[in-house]
Amino acid sequence: MTGLRLPPPPRALAFTLAALPLAWLVAGIMGLPAADLGPNPVREMTHFTGKTALNLLLVTLLVSPLRSISGDARWLRLRRMMGLWAFAYAALHFTVYAVLELDLSLAELGKELVKRPYIWVGAAALLGLLPLALTSTDRMMRRLGRRWQTLHRLVYAIAILAVWHYAWQVKADLREPLLYAAALAVLLGWRLHRWRDRRAKTSRGSSAQVS
Ligand code: HEM
Repeated sequence: MTGLRLPPPPRALAFTLAALPLAWLVAGIMGLPAADLGPNPVREMTHFTGKTALNLLLVTLLVSPLRSISGDARWLRLRRMMGLWAFAYAALHFTVYAVLELDLSLAELGKELVKRPYIWVGAAALLGLLPLALTSTDRMMRRLGRRWQTLHRLVYAIAILAVWHYAWQVKADLREPLLYAAALAVLLGWRLHRWRDRRAKTSRGSSAQVS
């Protein structure tokens, strides 16, 4: 599927856009009025970093469809950067929670895991992102060969876990998590559709060879 002229933004611009939430957070910690962290700054930081990690994870998953729609392979150069930013915000989200909310107390963490089971799901998503971040270098890509692609398909399960983690903790208004779930369903549905298409073409090709 090609045709729509949609060139990717320059890498420096994409990098800056992904870094803006971090800049906002730092401004908030420094007490700048333009970045108000509200009456409960630690809670706000936990929410903000979690939401940013999820947003960037979905942006990472959007890169392949954009590449396919535009036919411009340069889009793919943004994928690794966006994925690494998603991991960085997810790691920050965990750090804010563990250090500022729980004071690194294992006893507190134990209580939280019982009281808020959605934390298990978030932890699984973060642990899943770790090997992807560690193997994101060109060297690891070459070393793992085809296994790299198989490993990086983990990102689909991680995105499902991340949306689940978000939806589970919302008590009343489920509209926003449902919107995220719908966006993820479209992104994964597009891949499934393409995979089926390719399989059908391959099997048509091999049956043509036989006849
Ligand atoms: C060990 C890993 C993680 C822990 C301990 C954790 C913990 C938390 C906590 C305590 C909250 C706030 C819940 C509340 O206020 O009731 C939260 C919210 C959230 N987390 Fe996580 N999380 C983890 C991993 C992740 C990951 C990997 C993602 C996404 C990639 C993520 C995305 C979110 C989102 C979107 C929210 C909701 C933010 C909002 O309400 O605006 N979390 N998480």
